Amino acid sequence: MMMRITKPSIFYAVLLLVFIVTGCKQSKKESQSEMETVKTESKQNPIEETIFGEMPDGTKVKKFTLKNEAGMEVDVITYGGIITRWTAPDKNGLYEDVVLGFESLEPYLDGNPYFGALIGRYGNRIANGEFALEGKTYTLAKNDGDNHLHGGEKGFDKVLWNGVAKNTEEGAVVELTYTSQNGEEGYPGKLDVKVTYTLTDNNELDIQYEAVTDKPTVVNLTQHSYFNLSGQLSEQILDHEIYLNADTYLPVDGGLIPTGELRPVASTPFDFKESKLIGKEIEADNEQLKLGKGYDHCWVLNKGEEGFGMVASAYHGETGRFMEVYTNEPGMQFYSGNFLDGTLPAKGGGTYGQRSGFCLETQHFPNSPNQADFPSVRLNPGETYTSRTMFKLSTK
Ligand code: GLA
Repeated sequence: MMMRITKPSIFYAVLLLVFIVTGCKQSKKESQSEMETVKTESKQNPIEETIFGEMPDGTKVKKFTLKNEAGMEVDVITYGGIITRWTAPDKNGLYEDVVLGFESLEPYLDGNPYFGALIGRYGNRIANGEFALEGKTYTLAKNDGDNHLHGGEKGFDKVLWNGVAKNTEEGAVVELTYTSQNGEEGYPGKLDVKVTYTLTDNNELDIQYEAVTDKPTVVNLTQHSYFNLSGQLSEQILDHEIYLNADTYLPVDGGLIPTGELRPVASTPFDFKESKLIGKEIEADNEQLKLGKGYDHCWVLNKGEEGFGMVASAYHGETGRFMEVYTNEPGMQFYSGNFLDGTLPAKGGGTYGQRSGFCLETQHFPNSPNQADFPSVRLNPGETYTSRTMFKLSTK
């Protein structure tokens, strides 16, 4: 017998459907919230595109300003893919810039310690500027004492990227692409790289990296923002609390190259499994702290090599600013800005003195090409390198 469809029954059926759909959405949201960006509705926040400056040959450097519903703004330039400004609210809703950098292009061109930049092809150090692949030895620039650092003399932090901005369901996006030619900075293979910065309405900056090669090569990309959550960019970051979900870290030699040992953090100044002030033990009588002039080491994240999850956080009590870091990378270089020396002018006045910013650089381990026991950084033709890191800002 056919069911008679009455108006009230249609009404209740629709109501039930609405409950089911919203209920499902809710539970999906809850189960994903720890691990993933919650999708937001498509918003048409205008992305501003302006000219930040000119390269010595006259090429224009673009600046994209990503904005979200909450009021956060992130400026990204096509030179080095650098984040030059990033505003975040304090506990009273006051938005301030929380990353070190400059207001114009010139100081970036004059040389700086990788402020806000994309790092490649190999983030961190390669011992003696040398590695072998398939029996062939490749020689790289020794631009950090005897070692190779952050991709060499002209790494991805100093090249011009192609930038395209767009609004998506996830938020305001700038997509940067760059082709690194075979042999560039000594690395084998032509490498096509794409980095996507997405600013969501949840105050997350989601950074996704992709690369393909036409010859076996090594890749380790990262982002080198220096944070100072106080908003006072020339002040020290020793009053920030750091949490790192890592039982071990990689002790280094005098050139800051990991010795190969995975050393337990327990009962050492390297233990950040409970959130702890950076300044608490940074001056402790500890050989590794002396070698790094503070913290400048790679922590082995407990989450292992696979999966995307929350691995670290930073908290500034006075302003209440809180930042969580999510990644799928196995390591985290926590650098406490030890080499900053007060010679560079700070945005908003003063200079960038020692420890006026800290970096949380997600990555594979330093010198992996020469350490068979470390997770592999090799990329083969036909494979796609992918890496993802998300910084989420809030207050507490
Ligand atoms: C990284 C390194 C540091 C230093 C900075 C830039 O974080 O680990 O040793 O080179 O970059 O100054």
